[in-house]
Amino acid sequence: MPIHFERKNQRFLLTTKNTAYAFDIGAGRYLVHTYYGKKGKEISAFEGAPLSFGSYPESLGDKWNPDEIPQECPFFDSGDYRISALRIEGKDGTSVTDFVYQSHRVFAGRNDIPGFPTADADEKTKTLEIKMVDEVTGCVLYLYYTVFYEDDVISRSMKIENKGKDTVTIERCMPISLDMKGCDYHMVSLWGTHNAECNIQRFPLHHGVQSIFSRRGSSSPQHNPFLAVSSPKATETKGDVYAFNLVFSGSFADEIEVDQQSNTRVQVGLGSDTFAYTLEAGETFHSPEALMLYTKNGFGEMSRLFHTFIRKHIMPPCALEKHPVVLNTWEACYFDIDEQTLFAFAEESSKIGIDMLVMDDGWFGARNDDHAGLGDWYPNPEKFKNGMKSFVKGIHERGVKFGIWIEPEMVNQDSDLYRAHPDWCLRVEGRELLLSRDQLVLNMANPDVVAYLKKSFDATFGDVGIDYFKWDMNRHLAAVGSPLVSAEKQKELRYRYVMGVYDLLQYMRARFPDAIIESCSGGGGRYDLGLMKYGFQIWTSDNTDPYARILIQRGARLPYPASTMSCHVSDPHEDMKSLDFRYKVAVGGMLGYELNILKMSEGVKKEIARQIKEYKSFEDLIRLGDYYSLVCPFEKGYAAYYYADKEGTEILFSLLEQENCQKGETVLLRFTAAKADKVYTDVLSGKTYLGSDLKKGVRFSLKGEKFSAEMMHLIAK
Ligand code: GLA
Repeated sequence: MPIHFERKNQRFLLTTKNTAYAFDIGAGRYLVHTYYGKKGKEISAFEGAPLSFGSYPESLGDKWNPDEIPQECPFFDSGDYRISALRIEGKDGTSVTDFVYQSHRVFAGRNDIPGFPTADADEKTKTLEIKMVDEVTGCVLYLYYTVFYEDDVISRSMKIENKGKDTVTIERCMPISLDMKGCDYHMVSLWGTHNAECNIQRFPLHHGVQSIFSRRGSSSPQHNPFLAVSSPKATETKGDVYAFNLVFSGSFADEIEVDQQSNTRVQVGLGSDTFAYTLEAGETFHSPEALMLYTKNGFGEMSRLFHTFIRKHIMPPCALEKHPVVLNTWEACYFDIDEQTLFAFAEESSKIGIDMLVMDDGWFGARNDDHAGLGDWYPNPEKFKNGMKSFVKGIHERGVKFGIWIEPEMVNQDSDLYRAHPDWCLRVEGRELLLSRDQLVLNMANPDVVAYLKKSFDATFGDVGIDYFKWDMNRHLAAVGSPLVSAEKQKELRYRYVMGVYDLLQYMRARFPDAIIESCSGGGGRYDLGLMKYGFQIWTSDNTDPYARILIQRGARLPYPASTMSCHVSDPHEDMKSLDFRYKVAVGGMLGYELNILKMSEGVKKEIARQIKEYKSFEDLIRLGDYYSLVCPFEKGYAAYYYADKEGTEILFSLLEQENCQKGETVLLRFTAAKADKVYTDVLSGKTYLGSDLKKGVRFSLKGEKFSAEMMHLIAK
C-alpha cells in the first residue's frame, strides 16, 4: 500500500519502491514530519522538549513548541520562527497563519490543478489529501501528496479555499517543506547566465537561510528550480541524495534554513518576494506541483530517476518518438531571410538527410532587426510574397519538414499591436518603461492578450502545416504592473502571467497536435518542468561553442533527460576536425545544425550526411537510455559519459576533452551497466570487449590536442 494511515500512532506512511516518507498527527493538530529515506528503517515519533524563548499555544503547554517541531507545513507567525510554507494575511492586517488538521482521504490517481501542468498519474499512482482549517480566517487548506510508486517520486501541492467572509492575501506559498535531522549536508544547484547556463555548484550548508530563486517572471538561466541536498560525501555512485524540482515556469524560490538546533528545513515553491495572491470569499487558489525523491545511490541514480520520471510523467507521449534533425537558420542568416534563400536551404538540407528546416526570427511584421515587429504575427509581405501557406508548401515539396520561430509573450513599441494596445504590456503608470532588447512584455494575465495571440496564430498557421514551433522568450519581466487591473490585483500579475502562458501553450498543443514545441529563452533560460509538459525540447544555450557546450550539457543532464537538449553543430569553418568534435559534443543530446548550408563545401556536406546517418543508428539510446556520467567536466578538464539501454546490451560512450587536457593522462572508466556475460562490439571501430572487462574498467589516454574526442557504440552479441 503506497499510502497507509496507522490509526494507533496517528501516522501517515507513504512508500515508493525504495523509499518511505512518514509524518504523524501531533497533539491532534500538527503534522509532524518523522521520516524520509530508505524503506524499511524504524521510525520513531517526535519527542518535544521545552526550549527557551519558544512560543507555544497556551492550550498545549511547552512540550509542543512549534519552533522545534519538524513540520510538514510550517505556518508563518505560528510560533515557528523558521522559514514558513504558508503565510496568509487576514482582514485584520496580521499574517498569523494557523491551520489545524481536520481530516484526510486517499484516492487513486492524482489531484487536478486547473490550468497548471502536472505529472501524469499511472495505474499505481495514489494521492493523500489532508484537510486543515484556520478558524479565524475561515480558510481551508488541502495538502496533496501524490505517490509515484514505481519511480520513487512523491509530489506535493496545495489548494486553499476561502470559506470565510473576508478577502485574505496569500503572501508566501511553498508546496514542499521538508524538515531533516542535522545539517551536515551539501546543497547542489544549477546557476548560470545567458550563454553559460547550467553550471553545477555544490557547497556545505551553513546556519541561516541559503537560497536560489528567480524574481524574473520565468524560471531563468540565473538559477534553475532544481535543487539537491546530499550527504557531504555523496558521489555520482554513492551516498544520500534528496532532490527537488518545481513543475512551474515562473519566479520561484528554493530555500534551505539551518536552525538553532542545527536541523535543516528545505522548501521549494513560489517564495514571497514576487508572489502574492488575493483570495476573495468563495475563491480557490492552487499552488503548482513540486517533486521530491530520495536515493542512497548518489547523483547518478538521482539523474536517472528524474530522467525516467520526466519521460514517463511530464513529457507528452510524442516526446518518446524520434526527434527530427533540424537545420536552424539563425546563426546562418540572422534577420536576413527570404523565400528563395530558404527554398535553397530546404533543397540542400533534404539532400544530406536533414529532416526539418527551422526558420528563425525575422519572418513576420516589420521585423528586419530586433527593434520592430514583435506582436505582429503575420508574414512580412516583402519576404513572403505568396503568403505563408504557399511558402510552407514549397518547403515541404523540397523534402523537409518546416519549423518556425515565435516569441508570443513580447511586443516591440514599433509594432501594429503596440500602436493599437499600448496598455497590453506590463507597465507601471507614472514610471519609466523598462526595456530589454528593445522589447516589452505583454501582460499574459490579460485574457484579451491571450485571445489575440490565439487568433493571430490561428490565422497565420491554421491550415499551413507547421511541424515545429520554436517558442522564445528573450527578456524577463520588470516593472510588473498593469493599468487595467485594480491595486490589490497588481501583486498577482506574475502568477497569473504564467497561467496565461500555460493557457496559450495548451491551446497551441491542442490546435497543432502534430507540431513539436521547442522552448527557448535566449537559449536555456526557461529550462523547467512546466515548459517541458508542452515544449519538451529545449534550446539548451545560444552558445554553440563545443567547449562551452560540454559544460552546459553536463549541467542540464543532472536533472533533465538528454532528449530535452537541442544540441546544434554550428559553423566549423571548413575545419573537418572541428566539425567532427562539434558533432561528437552535439550527440550528447538531440542533434541539429545551425550553419549556412549554401556556403558549405561538398566535403563538409558529405560528412554531415554521414553524421546524421550515424546519429540515427544510436539516437534511441540518447533519447530513451539511462545516463551515466563517468567524469564531470566541472571537476576535471574533460567529460566522459555513456547512455545504456535498460538491458545493458547497448552502450553509447563519449569522452570529450577540453582545450587544456594533459597529453598522455590516463583514466580507468567503468561501465557498470554492461553485462558481465556478454561480448560487445564497438560498431564504430570494430573492436570487441568482454562485458566483464567493461565492468572492471577500460583505460583511456587523453590526446591533449585541440578537438579531441572519442566515441564507442557498443552492441552485445
Ligand atoms: C534568441 C534565441 C536564438 C534566436 C534569437 C532570435 O536569442 O536564443 O536562438 O532564436 O533569439 O532573435
